[in-house]
Amino acid sequence: MKTKIINTPDLLKAASRKKEATNFCVAHSVHLDDLKKLVNGKKYYIRTYGCQANVRDEETMRAMLEDVGYTYSDDLENVDLIIINTCAVRENAEDKVYGEIGNLKRLRRKNKNLILSICGCMVEQPEILKRVMNTFPEVNLLFGTHEIAQLLDLVYECLTTGERIVSIESKQGEVVEFKNDCRNNHYKAYVNIIYGCNKFCTYCIVPYTRGKERSRKFQDVLDECKSLVEAGYQEITLLGQNVNAYGKDLDEGYDFADLMEAVAKLGIPRLRFTTSHPWDFSSKMIEIIAKYDNIMKFIHLPVQSGNDEILRKMGRRYTREQYLNLVKEMREKIPGLSLSTDIIVGFPNETEEQFQDTCSLVDIVKYEAAFTFIYSPRRGTPAAKMEDNVDKDTKVRRFKELVSHLEKHIEEHSNSMVGKTYPVLVDGVSKTDENMLSGYTEENKLVHFKGDISLVGSIVNVKISESHTYSMIGEIVNG
Ligand code: 5AD
Ligand code: SF4
Repeated sequence: MKTKIINTPDLLKAASRKKEATNFCVAHSVHLDDLKKLVNGKKYYIRTYGCQANVRDEETMRAMLEDVGYTYSDDLENVDLIIINTCAVRENAEDKVYGEIGNLKRLRRKNKNLILSICGCMVEQPEILKRVMNTFPEVNLLFGTHEIAQLLDLVYECLTTGERIVSIESKQGEVVEFKNDCRNNHYKAYVNIIYGCNKFCTYCIVPYTRGKERSRKFQDVLDECKSLVEAGYQEITLLGQNVNAYGKDLDEGYDFADLMEAVAKLGIPRLRFTTSHPWDFSSKMIEIIAKYDNIMKFIHLPVQSGNDEILRKMGRRYTREQYLNLVKEMREKIPGLSLSTDIIVGFPNETEEQFQDTCSLVDIVKYEAAFTFIYSPRRGTPAAKMEDNVDKDTKVRRFKELVSHLEKHIEEHSNSMVGKTYPVLVDGVSKTDENMLSGYTEENKLVHFKGDISLVGSIVNVKISESHTYSMIGEIVNG
């Protein structure tokens, strides 16, 4: 099979941040009408790994594919297009994808017309792209996050030429608005407000794969949120690698606090946002969160480490003291606040003392939830070049120790919920017990309870009867 290379990634280009105006455009396909004729009843399947940005990208791709007549099917033996939408944040996310392609490649041997595609952050790393191209000749469409808007033209090219197409450009990126929408959930929605990241934390690959920080226009975000409210959505989560930077690159005069307030005023029952970098979390944001009942009192505030030297080496732009002061201000001004965090254990050369600083910070903040990771070197990032004398066993031991600190506080918080009643947005049938429903409290606690399936998508009051650290059992009260 011939390979047509339109673009390949380049980490130097990916790392550059030139001061040039962002291009705002609307997605369009050159071959739309021809593709509609070609698709004619074809089926597609998408599997997504990674963060909420990837989940939203999946929805965007689904909308585009369904617009030209593809229908979704998870019967992999009989689909015509398979897209694996990947994540690059840690090595284990990549390993899962290798396993998955290993399983899927036989389908391509069986059906020569199948398009087997890998897209997203993983293939935006030059070494990984090379490995995928060499190891898996069956994969015949490769594109990055910046090419999502061109998906239909890439599919058209694959179908009409029979060639393997590679289109992955490292660039600062545009803001593309999409005409069609498709959502995986009919009462909870993700809304992108800012793409990319300029923070360049030294361990992180995301600024290289997703381009520069670029905000969507205020009115475009509001229009999308308004249509979700009108369609009966119960919850909106405003999305960005760093939502706090919203608006700084626009000359519209709005910041993230203004945007949050405007969306809250639309009357959505639950408004959430993620992720917030502590460096630019403003007092104005704290005031707005406190002021509106429909802004959930739940903030995901990644700390990564509790030690100043490690924070400096990570390029996080705040000290332990500044972080703790921010938490203090939040807890004082936002009654009932729940905090969650991300923590990386085993950053290069992390000493036992530095690790203990992270544990002591956890004991001070008493997070209500947390995601913990063992450091995973990402080729091309500054941290990957740092000397690391910490062995794997030590990292695993520290990871377990940190989790036990976190769990102590999470458990205490969960126990304190027993006997109290919370509004819960009903998600669906519980994944652990088919006789129960499950949903989330405003503080993002998972609750299982008995109830009728017709309640899915509505907010009910649930009295908590049992605590299981990460989830709760309860019963519906007041109907
Ligand atoms: N190794 C381990 N964890 C990482 N994260 C980002 N990059 C790495 C890495 N190289 C974690 C951070 C971030 C979360 C999304 O993933 O904690 O907040
Ligand atoms: Fe990665 Fe840091 Fe940007 Fe988050 S803020 S995406 S951790 S570089």
